[in-house]
Amino acid sequence: MLDTNKILQLIGVQGYKLRANEHPEQLENTKGDWSELESEVKHCTKCSLHKSRTQTVFGCGNKDSDWLFIGEAPGKDEDLQGEPFVGRAGRLLNEIIFSIGLNREDIYIANILKCRPPNNRDPSSKEIHLCSSYLEQQIRMVSPKIIIAVGRIAAQNLLGSDLTMGKLRGTVHSYGSENIPLVVLYHPAYLLRSPSQKYKVWSDLQLARTVME
Ligand code: URA
Repeated sequence: MLDTNKILQLIGVQGYKLRANEHPEQLENTKGDWSELESEVKHCTKCSLHKSRTQTVFGCGNKDSDWLFIGEAPGKDEDLQGEPFVGRAGRLLNEIIFSIGLNREDIYIANILKCRPPNNRDPSSKEIHLCSSYLEQQIRMVSPKIIIAVGRIAAQNLLGSDLTMGKLRGTVHSYGSENIPLVVLYHPAYLLRSPSQKYKVWSDLQLARTVME
């Protein structure tokens, strides 16, 4: 098959050369990156969590979204269904997303860890370290305009901070060398236990919306 530059040459268009990211072959590779990464995660045995998982939980949603939500790790329901935030906390997260005029399909959702820690214990720093390249690649490929860190584990690890949630929420941080704005939300599982804190999430969402406007 002729490549696009050859076709341009044949029909007499001169002095025009496609940039690397305009090549259809390159675009296919971009898509390929996702399936390659997903397959790599699916077969990952870097840490011992692979022994107890039912399946990996890669991430889901709109890969071109401006909004990237990042949680902690799959729980029981996520481990069974292979999708992030599908349990009780996930249903509350859906309402949170809906309250800013978005649906799950409009955003991309991923976790710090791709496998469930047994009994939903906190992820260890070794597990987080071994899993981190997968999330870094997802962030790079989604290239969001804002990151929403859902819960303490996500917030502390994305920001390289050990500050409490009380100190991390309520301000706009920036992530990585690209300085992607990052806003921290209380985890919906915490809100289920402490519904009186929901108003803080509402206020943090307004902050995120302001960033996007
Ligand atoms: N909690 C998380 O942080 N992520 C999930 O996917 C589910 C529950």
